[in-house]
Amino acid sequence: MVRETHLHPGALIYPLFICPGEGIRKEIGSMPGVFNLSIDEAIKEAEACASLGLGGLLLFGLPAQKDEEATGAWAEDGIVQQALRTIKQNKALDSLVAIADVCLCEYTPHGHCGVVKRDGDHYEIQNDSSVVLIAKTAASLAQAGADIVAPSDMMDGRVEAIRNALDAGGHEQIPIMSYASKFASAFYGPFREAADSAPQFGDRRSYQMDGANLREAMREIDQDIAEGADMLLMKPAMPYLDVIRAARERYDLPMGAYQVSGEYSMLHAAFARGWLEPERTMMESLLSIRRAGADFIVTYFAKEAAKVLG
Ligand code: PBG
Repeated sequence: MVRETHLHPGALIYPLFICPGEGIRKEIGSMPGVFNLSIDEAIKEAEACASLGLGGLLLFGLPAQKDEEATGAWAEDGIVQQALRTIKQNKALDSLVAIADVCLCEYTPHGHCGVVKRDGDHYEIQNDSSVVLIAKTAASLAQAGADIVAPSDMMDGRVEAIRNALDAGGHEQIPIMSYASKFASAFYGPFREAADSAPQFGDRRSYQMDGANLREAMREIDQDIAEGADMLLMKPAMPYLDVIRAARERYDLPMGAYQVSGEYSMLHAAFARGWLEPERTMMESLLSIRRAGADFIVTYFAKEAAKVLG
């Protein structure tokens, strides 16, 4: 009766990692219970998510080939585009919001989120040419049926470019969920195994945020809202609950938080050793993110938590 914060399955979003092929269900070593899934297997997983009452899916792709232009990210027959078309043909999945992650890192051989210019040992991420490809990717994902596009690349100016590309492609109604203040975090480590997107050289600190900077995070969010962001996704979650709280107090937009791969892996590592009680710890970690102010949570625990919530 007096509980202040609640969890419900509809506010949980489950990430899926789609790979080419058929009948593929390859477990991620560092993320027990999370798989690379071919489209047929992903559909089964999505059906399970729908029957558990989850709010939606966040789709990532592992392309058959990678190249400097990240062709697999924006190609009409890209792996996520194909998955979206299949999902949208399936009536049993109507209740799920299909959110497409927009980034280049899974689709480039170097694993950076944008276009790289190299000169010997020196390299630079090219902001503006990256934004062109990112906008093209978003338009292509909307065309394939994405309900929401979620740019996670952190290039400057991409929200406005995506809005323009969506509108020009006849997708005025598709919202942009911006990872507006994504931190350069060590907690993304296991994801890079799942999405095969570890940078082959350097790091992401020239485009992702310094974990020390809360005020700068607010400036990044201001900028994305001014460019047309419709929703915010805060990331990571547990090590940045104060940032989520600050954003909640400052912005009225719908706001989610991403409990990232490393948060999931470290809890599982402790569960495997019997050091933490799985169900209670999982629910407490999710509740803390809601209490900090997130409306919804992207989490690899989504299915397990929905089962607990009944
Ligand atoms: C792609 C992207 C990443 C994550 C989501 N989108 C990885 C990164 O920036 O290195 C991380 C998600 C997770 O760790 O679960 N840019």
